[in-house]
Amino acid sequence: MSDKATLIIDGQKYDFDMITGTENERCIDIQSLRDTTGCITMDPGFANTGSCYSSITYVDGAKGILRYRGYPIEEIAEKASFVEAAYLILYGELPKADQLKAFSARLKEHAPIHTNLEHHFSGFPKSAPPMAILSAMLNLISCFHPEVLEVPTTGAEFDRTASLLLSKVRTIAAFAYRMASGKPINHPNPHLTYCGNFLHMMFSDPYQEYEVSPVVDRALNLFLVLHADHEQNCSTSTVRVVGSSRANLFSSVAAGVCALWGPLHGGANAAVIKMLEDIRQSGRPASYYIDRAKDKNDPFRLMGFGHRVYKNFDPRSIILKKQVYNLLEALKLDDQLLEIALQLEEATLKDDYFISRNLYPNVDFYSGILLRAIGIPLNMYTVMFAIGRMPGWIANWKELHDHKLRISRPRQIYTGSRARTFVPMTER
Ligand code: CMC
Repeated sequence: MSDKATLIIDGQKYDFDMITGTENERCIDIQSLRDTTGCITMDPGFANTGSCYSSITYVDGAKGILRYRGYPIEEIAEKASFVEAAYLILYGELPKADQLKAFSARLKEHAPIHTNLEHHFSGFPKSAPPMAILSAMLNLISCFHPEVLEVPTTGAEFDRTASLLLSKVRTIAAFAYRMASGKPINHPNPHLTYCGNFLHMMFSDPYQEYEVSPVVDRALNLFLVLHADHEQNCSTSTVRVVGSSRANLFSSVAAGVCALWGPLHGGANAAVIKMLEDIRQSGRPASYYIDRAKDKNDPFRLMGFGHRVYKNFDPRSIILKKQVYNLLEALKLDDQLLEIALQLEEATLKDDYFISRNLYPNVDFYSGILLRAIGIPLNMYTVMFAIGRMPGWIANWKELHDHKLRISRPRQIYTGSRARTFVPMTER
């Protein structure tokens, strides 16, 4: 294999180094391109652009492979809790028993939020989208922990900041839901697991403590594990871009939450359920919606289908689909939306439009049905994704600083007016 790539511009040859990753993925190093040739590259949406080296997550879209720190997602989803997976993503290795104990203890210690921070929740209107509240409150935490405004310089500082964020995001999410529903907040209970504690903060009432069923606890763990990282997706890239200006971790992940909110990214999980509900209520066949998705004059897209990287199948969606069946069966639930989802999937698998464009169910297609079965309200679905993605955002932010990356600052090709003279108001 060649270790140089040659580019010819106006008859002149330029050589660039080839870079090869652990899994033999190849890349042309064009860092010197502008200085040597005077040209830049054009890649809107960054589909062909590597922005960093990373040792956190590997995705092979053609083969449907996803690995966290080398471990296949199928194994992690089956064998690890979310806390264990978060440790793996943050620190690079599966935790030993004492490491997991210490990590869990830190998460418990940091679960409560400052009382003054609690008051802020009541300032939001009842209709405030929880994603807006989550982003605002994550940014706000830094006001109560000024020490996190700095990039951590020691391992202990990073341990503290990472667990503080990982733990408080869950408390903020649950408080946002309780406040918006006009219900009293439930403070974290240190005797519960990470997921159990979240469910308690969401669903316990003064007259009845929420009983955490092991089946639901497991399903929620699996949901969070599957969302824990996904290399340079839109929100993680946002966290890196914001972090590259040396903005603190909290403001960087708050920006990540905003990027995740959009329906083409994490917001798709709620959009899928809205779409399935529409189909159910309309009584129209799946084919009507498939035809709309194929119609280039109709902005409608089949939500939960397609992926920038996966061009075969999304392994997370396969694991989720199985888990949805198990959960519904264990809870003795029958969800009509699952039937509709299955009909849509079956129809697309036979349809040339979807086959030729490699459009398959992605992680968001079945996740909403799982969240519905747990009792999570629709406007919290993308918040759940954000809680899951937190380890990935933190690990990428740390890696950015470990690699001492430059500030993110893409270039452009200007297509506006040439230089012209200012026109006074009377002459316009
Ligand atoms: N329904 C109908 N057509 C689609 C869909 C869809 N869901 N997704 C892509 N296409 C078509 C698109 O119109 C285009 O067709 P053509 O080549 O004829 O112009 C072709 O497939 C390629 O699509 P693209 O928009 O260029 O692909 P992209 O890589 O820029 O976008 C995507 C990827 C995920 C944003 C897109 O597939 C999409 O909008 N899907 C629906 C929203 C969704 O489910 N998002 C969740 C993504 S996975 C988890 C996450 O990131 O949060």
